[in-house]
Amino acid sequence: MTAIHVALLGYGTVGKGVYRTIEKHQERLKTILGKEVKIVAILVKELEKHQWVNNEVLFTDNYTDIINLPKLDVVIDAIVGVEPGFSYLRQAINRGCHVITANKEMFAHHGTELLSLAKEKNVSLGFEATVAGGIPIIQTLKKLLNANKVDKVEGILNGTSNFILTKMREENLSFEDALKLAQEYGYAEADPANDIEGVDAFYKAVILSEVIFGEQPEWEQTITQGIGTLTLQQIKLFESLGLRFKHVASLQKSNTEIQCTVRPVLVTNSHPLYQVEEVQNAINIEADIVGNISLQGPGAGMFPTASAIVEDLIHIGDKQLASSPEDSLFFEKETKENIWALH
Ligand code: NDP
Ligand code: HSE
Repeated sequence: MTAIHVALLGYGTVGKGVYRTIEKHQERLKTILGKEVKIVAILVKELEKHQWVNNEVLFTDNYTDIINLPKLDVVIDAIVGVEPGFSYLRQAINRGCHVITANKEMFAHHGTELLSLAKEKNVSLGFEATVAGGIPIIQTLKKLLNANKVDKVEGILNGTSNFILTKMREENLSFEDALKLAQEYGYAEADPANDIEGVDAFYKAVILSEVIFGEQPEWEQTITQGIGTLTLQQIKLFESLGLRFKHVASLQKSNTEIQCTVRPVLVTNSHPLYQVEEVQNAINIEADIVGNISLQGPGAGMFPTASAIVEDLIHIGDKQLASSPEDSLFFEKETKENIWALH
C-alpha cells in the first residue's frame, strides 16, 4: 500500500477539522505512518450547501459511491445520529475497512455490535473522539491502566454545558445567548437538546462504562439531568456563596451494579472541578493501585476532536505496521474478554 485511502463521512465542524488537520500535518503523518494519508471521498447530506473545488476528492451525498470505491482503507464517521451512521460503518467493516467514529450517540447504542464485527473482520475501530473531545481518555483507560482496577470515574463530559455555565456566571449572558455562542464555536450538537438535557454526557458515560466495566449501566436506572433548568439568578447566588454549578457525570460499580448519574452538582472551591471552565472537560479516575488520576483538556470543537480522530488513525497504522515480536505484545492483550477494551 503506497497511501492510506480515507473516506470522511460528514463535512461539518468535525469533518472540516479532520480534513484540515490531515492536510496541514501531511508530512508529519507520512513520517509516522510511512505512507501518505489521502482523503479520497467526503460524504455530506445536502450537496448544494457546499462549494467543493478539489477534483481529486469525490464529494458526494451518495454513500454507495464511497463504499464502492476501488481503493478504500479507512472510513471516518463524523455525521450525526444513530442512523445512517451505524449502517454505513457496518458496511465499511464488512468491506474490510478500518473505521473511526466521533458519533457517540450511534456508538452508545451500537458500539458492542460494531466492535464484535470489527473483531470478526480483523479490522480496527477507533472511538477516542466519542468521549471528552481531545482528551485521550479511551486510550488511557484501555492501554495504560491495565494492571489497575478502575473503581470510579467522575467528570465534566459535555463541553457545551460547561461553556454555558461559565459564560452565564462570568459574563452575565442569558442561557440562550450562551448556547448561541456555543453553537457558533461548533461545540454544540446539531440538535443542542442532547447537550443541555444531559443526554450527550450520558452517552459518553455509557461508552466509558463499557470500556471500564465491560458493560453498560441500566439506561432506565440512570439519573440524567441537564443544565437547562438553571437560571442566571441561581448561578449568581451560589457563586456569591462560594459555590459553582458543574455538570457532572459519575460512574461507579458496586457489587454487580453500575451506578451512573449525570446532573448539575454544586461544588466548593476545593473541588477538583471548580476551576474547570469554558469548553474544558475533566475526568477523575479512581484506580486501586495508582490512586487518583485527573485528565483535563478541550472537550469539544473542531481541532480537539480532529486530534482524537487523527490519533486513532495513527493507532490503526501502528497495528497494520506491527511486525516485530515487541510490537506483538500489543496484540496479546486481545485475548481479554471485554470487546470494548480490545480495539
Ligand atoms: P455538524 O452538524 O457540524 O456536521 C455534520 C456533518 O454530517 C455535515 O457535513 C452534514 O452534511 C453531515 N451529515 C449529517 N447527517 C448526514 C447524513 N444522514 N448523511 C450524510 N451526511 C450527513 O456536526 P459536527 O461536525 O459537530 O459533529 C459530527 C459528529 O461528531 C456528531 O456525531 C457529533 O456528536 C460528534 N462530535 C462532535 C464534536 C464537536 O465538538 N462538534 C465533538 C465530538 C464528537 P451537510 O453539511 O450537508 O449538512
Ligand atoms: N456537543 C458535545 C459537547 C461535543 O459539547 O461536549 C463534544 O462531544
